[in-house]
Amino acid sequence: MTDHFHYQDGKLFAEGVNLEDIASRYGTPCYVYSHAALTEGFRQFASALNGRDHLVCYAVKANPNLAVLNLFARLGAGFDIVSGGELQRVIAAGGDAKKVVFSGVGKTKSEMRMALDAGILCFNVESAAELDLLNEVAGSLGKKAAISLRVNPDVDAKTHPYISTGLKQNKFGVAYTEAMDLYRKANAMSNIRITGMDCHIGSQLTEISPFIAAVEKVLFLVDELAREGIALEHLDLGGGLGIRYKDETPPAISEYVAALLSALEGRTQKLILEPGRVLVGNAGLLLTSVEYIKRGEEKNFAIVDAAMNDLMRPALYDAYHEILPVLREGHAHETYEIVGPICETGDFLGRERALPIVAQSLLAIMSAGAYGMSMSSNYNTRPRAAEVMVDGDRVHLVRERETVEQLYAGERIIA
Ligand code: LLP
Repeated sequence: MTDHFHYQDGKLFAEGVNLEDIASRYGTPCYVYSHAALTEGFRQFASALNGRDHLVCYAVKANPNLAVLNLFARLGAGFDIVSGGELQRVIAAGGDAKKVVFSGVGKTKSEMRMALDAGILCFNVESAAELDLLNEVAGSLGKKAAISLRVNPDVDAKTHPYISTGLKQNKFGVAYTEAMDLYRKANAMSNIRITGMDCHIGSQLTEISPFIAAVEKVLFLVDELAREGIALEHLDLGGGLGIRYKDETPPAISEYVAALLSALEGRTQKLILEPGRVLVGNAGLLLTSVEYIKRGEEKNFAIVDAAMNDLMRPALYDAYHEILPVLREGHAHETYEIVGPICETGDFLGRERALPIVAQSLLAIMSAGAYGMSMSSNYNTRPRAAEVMVDGDRVHLVRERETVEQLYAGERIIA
């Protein structure tokens, strides 16, 4: 729990607002974000990087709500995007396209065109084929595309295998051993301008050492390039800093940035970072209501109105999210499986949790600000949850609950 979510007289609050009030006003399931927590995270990066030429490019995929993007844009953020859709969101939210870096292994021609027209800062190119296509697309528009190669440093991020990206066997980036040749090739292309080097080794990293190992490998290539007369303007060291879900002890933002800066000592290139989770993860929770208590022979189930379609991380990665009762007292603690109404055994949000609840109790699923709403789906024809942002004692609805009609609006019955 961060300070922004806390108990007051036994009731769970988001900043100055009782979560019970949010549930009765907006219904459940509902994502609740703390404006102060979002702001504080971003400011920690800004102050740790103070005095250094830098750009914090928030990784949009972690939480793409327009209100979140707009807040970061006003704080000075750039954005790391992985689709044309994310670029449209950034622009709709008032973000500056000139501060956008575009990552991803499968950029399409039309996405390239859209990004070139918008005048983004840099394409993080992930393969030789993509480089060829980008050169061609930029040529057809009479433009030069600014690029960095996303180098795969083959470093073990020591995280969940599904979110590890910097190993040889992963689909991401250009193989370390091929990067020099590809840079030489890019240097000779008429519609490509080399501006940087990029790497991102994974997500939810709880140690600093893999980041530093990756930086060292990147710097080795930077020096090789410099010897060949290819000078870089920026180094993009990706995202990946982890958060505390349960008992992890990830480095603080300040510690992580200090370690990077010390590994970069003497280097003058602009430093770009692409944090996602660490900026939003602990700034959000998913508020849900217990529908039924079901006592089984072996287990007790608390069936809640949120499900794997709202928060997929437990089902997909066996991820742990702390679950807190909105009312801390009043009922005996019992151990429950916290499950949703979806017809899948994998539809659980927490296992073996001791909680003081009855039917209609409210629960807060913590650390849900990152990869929660952004990975949600409409499985079982479940409209997506509402999202609110709390700022002091005010609550702003930042996304309305979906309606079922919206879900099938594009579908047609054949005559
Ligand atoms: N940059 C690139 C190129 C990325 O692929 C990612 C995340 C980030 C930045 C941001 O990483 P972060 O700072 O958030 O760790 N759905 C998974 C996480 C997938 C992360 C994918 N890439 C989860 O729920 O844990």
